[in-house]
Order: sequence, then C-alpha cells, then structure tokens
Amino acid sequence: MVNVAVFASGNGSNFEALVRRAKLYEVRCLIVDQENAYAITRAKNLNIPYYFIDRDQYQSRKDYESAILKILDSYQIEWIALAGYMRIVGQTLMKAYPNHILNIHPSLLPLFPGKQAILDAYENQVKLTGVTVFIIDEGIDTGKIVAQEAITIKENMKLEDLENQIHQVEHEIFSNTLHDLIGGKI
Ligand code: GAR
Repeated sequence: MVNVAVFASGNGSNFEALVRRAKLYEVRCLIVDQENAYAITRAKNLNIPYYFIDRDQYQSRKDYESAILKILDSYQIEWIALAGYMRIVGQTLMKAYPNHILNIHPSLLPLFPGKQAILDAYENQVKLTGVTVFIIDEGIDTGKIVAQEAITIKENMKLEDLENQIHQVEHEIFSNTLHDLIGGKI
C-alpha cells in the first residue's frame, strides 16, 4: 500500500473521491490551509486524520512547509495529491517529493490556468474544455501532464451543468491516474 497525503483548501470533493476510490494507495491524512474548509468535515466523516496548518503562523514559506513535512514524515507519505489546494508549492516540499506531487486542474492545460478555470473557459465560449492531471513544477498550473479528458461545451449549456460534469470527470480521473502512476502504467 502506498501512503498518500491530500492537500485541500476548500470543498474537498476530490479529496473524498480519492479516499473512496483507493485501491493501491491509502489516504493517510489531509492537510488544509483554511480553517473553514469543508474538506475538514469530510475528513471527520471519513475518519481520516486532518491537520489545519495556518500559513500566517509561520514567518516564511520554508517554515510553513517544514511543519507540513514533519506530519508527512510521520505517516511515511510517498505521494502528495493536491485537491483544490490554492497555494503555490515551494522548494521545501518540491525537493522532498521530486516528481511525486500530483495536481488536478479543471481545464485542458495549458489553457485557462488559475483559480477560476471553469468560468474562464465558459466565458470564452470555447467548445471544448476538460480536466488535466499533472505533476507539478515551480509554475502555476504548469508541469508534466499525465492525463487529460476533454468535455464538450454544448450550445446553451448552463455553467452549473459544466461544473457538475467537470467535477464528475475529476473524481474518476484523479484516482485512476494515481493508480496508474503507482502501478507503473504511466
Ligand atoms: C477542483 O475543480 C480542482 O480542479 C480545482 O479546484 C477544485 C476543487 O474542488 N483546482 C484548481 O483550480 C487548481 N488550479 P474540490 O475542493 O471539491 O475538490
């Protein structure tokens, strides 16, 4: 079994999907950077230990990430899955987990990076958008793409319907990709 830590900032639906769909890995803990993240409620319901690490309590990103690293070490974490973690990952975590930090983004990268990708794609009236899973590097929503799935934006489609469809795809592709990476299929 491969030990995985999930990082989240908000709702946590991808965190929950990763927990529920785990076969070759186990989600050992959740790290949150927002005290009110709904992901915490999910962690309680799923019986997964969670840790709110407050960036404001640390002088530097290095100190903040070192505090997180201590927790990850205690669970012998091998992979980190960023599930709506809205913060740039710095050198401390990157160096500790080279090529082992997986992120998910709700667009076909490199199109529409950033915090509101679904809305951006919708407002730009593209016909095709989707979901990307990638191994992070220093940039924002850049890195090695390991999986993508396209979604057609149909004529007169509501934003809410697109959001639902994207999230449905996310919940499957994230866990599938992690399994493929662990199983050596990618
Ligand atoms: C997901 O749609 C994820 O792709 C996105 O945040 C959402 C989190 O939802 N991430 C990014 O935009 C990263 N740039 P969730 O909290 O329900 O998993």
